[in-house]
Amino acid sequence: MKEIHVLEQTTIDKIAAGEVVERPGSIVKELCENALDAGATALTVEIRDGGISMIRVTDNGEGIDPTQVRRAFLRHATSKITQVDDLVSIRSFGFRGEALSSICAVSRVELITKVRENLTGVRYKIEGGSEKLFEEVGAPAGSTFIVRDLFYNTPARRKFLKSAQTEAGYISDFVSRLAMSHPHISVKFMVNSTTRLSTSGYGSQADVINAVFGREVRSNLIEVEQKEEAHGLLLKGWIGKPAVSRGNRTCEILYVNGRLVYNSIFSKAVEEGYETFLMQHRFPFVILQLTLPGSDVDVNVHPAKAQVRFTDGPLIFDFVKTAVKEHLTRRELVVESAFQNQAQEEAAKREARKRALEAQKAKDVPEPFETLRRQHNTPEGYLNGAGQGTSPYARQYPPQENAGQGKSPFARQWPSEEAAGSSREKIQAANQFLHEVRQLSIFDQDNHIHSPEKKESQPLMTEAGENRS
Ligand SMILES: Nc1ncnc2c1ncn2[C@@H]1O[C@H](COP(=O)(O)OP(=O)(O)O)[C@@H](O)[C@H]1O
Ligand SMILES: [Mg+2]
Repeated sequence: MKEIHVLEQTTIDKIAAGEVVERPGSIVKELCENALDAGATALTVEIRDGGISMIRVTDNGEGIDPTQVRRAFLRHATSKITQVDDLVSIRSFGFRGEALSSICAVSRVELITKVRENLTGVRYKIEGGSEKLFEEVGAPAGSTFIVRDLFYNTPARRKFLKSAQTEAGYISDFVSRLAMSHPHISVKFMVNSTTRLSTSGYGSQADVINAVFGREVRSNLIEVEQKEEAHGLLLKGWIGKPAVSRGNRTCEILYVNGRLVYNSIFSKAVEEGYETFLMQHRFPFVILQLTLPGSDVDVNVHPAKAQVRFTDGPLIFDFVKTAVKEHLTRRELVVESAFQNQAQEEAAKREARKRALEAQKAKDVPEPFETLRRQHNTPEGYLNGAGQGTSPYARQYPPQENAGQGKSPFARQWPSEEAAGSSREKIQAANQFLHEVRQLSIFDQDNHIHSPEKKESQPLMTEAGENRS
């Protein structure tokens, strides 16, 4: 017969701790959320070796009374709810009373805490779930949790940790997301004694986004605020223009009732809102907070509380998708239409200028030299006619008998005064023509026109087809 026995409390705690404490980042998350639940307005997170050797979270919250300190580390010990119905109206991050018991089961924890009304505080040490120290100390109001040697008593779990740098990256992501969703709280983040992030707590989310992601991203964000009165829905935050899209989902930063979550409905709705604005395999940059009645969302899906379930998924999906799409369209189109209008105006101006120019050209009757130049602009053109007595050049000269009788086609070819432009232009055109004719070697050095016979013997084109100069 196999005997059935109840596990020892330490074993139970270690098993349960696995659900809450997966890596250093989970501890930072739990401690920070406790600090926010305690009403802190300033929060400092320090880590060493990616949080594996040390995590310190200091807050200026309400602190823990000496009589309550030991109890806080018991499993399912919480001050935040008393019954399950309280979950509907829950405003705090914590409610399961599992974090501190889980953390102290797999690490060495030291707590220094003082409530504002007391003169002194408490220093408490607990390692692997067993108490090591409880003493009275002087301390500022608030709490400091120091967590050392994570998984020192569960080596199997320790092996699953990534490099200190990677773990620090996860923590950094979390802390910056927390700072962005809580701009009223001054958040400081230090890695190996170097300050990585420090926010003022003045309440400007845009400033925190700027501090976390930089000006380039900040300037490409569109502010979103959409309400749906009937179901008490509110979507607030920022959506990135396509220019700041990403190759993965790491910058789909979504909060539900203040809680940072991974929710496929929320995420899909955002992505579909972007549908026509992003190329395939690109993901939007968004920081969006969805607020809805507590009765319409279940936050108790997993011990880590990073997941939520909506009572009416399709409602949330449509609301979010429409809001994102509308804001993108509204802003993008405003910008684009202004841009398009400008482009259209410029195109219209260009077209008008072109038409005016063509009209002017149509009025221009070319001068004789110009006509000639146009007809014989190419050496071939000249060659065709040269030496055969059929040169149009020759034909252009008025017959001797007509000269000076007003019948000369030459005379007729002069353009009217207004079409001809200034006399300076006339001179320029004539000079230009003479120059080009010279290029064609029609004139000799003394400006006498070559005889066609002479011309014939001097081909203008070389064998290689180049123009002879
Ligand atoms: N930073 C803190 N400041 C004040 N009280 C705290 C702090 N952290 C924990 N506590 C107290 O310890 C209790 C247990 O914390 P925890 O194990 O995280 O459970 P939960 O947050 O779910 O209540 C909390 O309910 C709270 O009363
Ligand atoms: Mg908690």
